[in-house]
Amino acid sequence: DENGEGGEEYLFKIVLIGDSAVGKSNLLSRFARNEFDSNSKATIGVEFQTQMVEIDGKEVKAQIWDTAGQERFRAVTSAYYRGAVGALVVYDISRRGTFDSIKRWLDELTTQNDSTVATMLVGNKCDLENIREVSTEEGKTLAEEEGLFFMETSALESTNVQTAFEIVIREIY
Ligand code: GTP
Ligand code: MG
Repeated sequence: DENGEGGEEYLFKIVLIGDSAVGKSNLLSRFARNEFDSNSKATIGVEFQTQMVEIDGKEVKAQIWDTAGQERFRAVTSAYYRGAVGALVVYDISRRGTFDSIKRWLDELTTQNDSTVATMLVGNKCDLENIREVSTEEGKTLAEEEGLFFMETSALESTNVQTAFEIVIREIY
């Protein structure tokens, strides 16, 4: 490059976790390709996307991993978490049960990963205000208790999706 350092580059692994159908795959497709699929199928195994993000004038390569929320479709857990430096732990604001699962997902994240992981609690589907079951305040409070960033997003309406990923990437960086 122009500094003569040649191809200096950062690669960060970020994992998406949370119950089935909270919108993990759509958050990723919105972030990486600006796409949304209203008929998306449950993820089987593991998928990932690599996305370049510019932070303070430096190119950062974010490798974002997405797996199944359903136990029977999940890949080998230890491999999924290995080397992750960031995580988005996602629930659906219109389904209380997915919020109740968050503690379990956080436990798994800390058990499987010994280093510190920059973690964002994400309340997705904030477009579904009329059938909301989890208040913004509850999300905020849990995030404070657990020392996490917090954001409500909508993959459908593109609300805060970019920002949620960028805050995590910036924190790692
Ligand atoms: P698994 O792969 O089974 O773990 O599910 P997932 O968390 O990847 O969920 P997915 O992205 O497949 O989305 C599940 C359903 O929710 C799909 O019908 C999506 O279209 C829908 N969905 C995802 N994000 C949003 C959102 O922000 N708003 C609304 N209204 N629907 C969404
Ligand atoms: Mg999925």
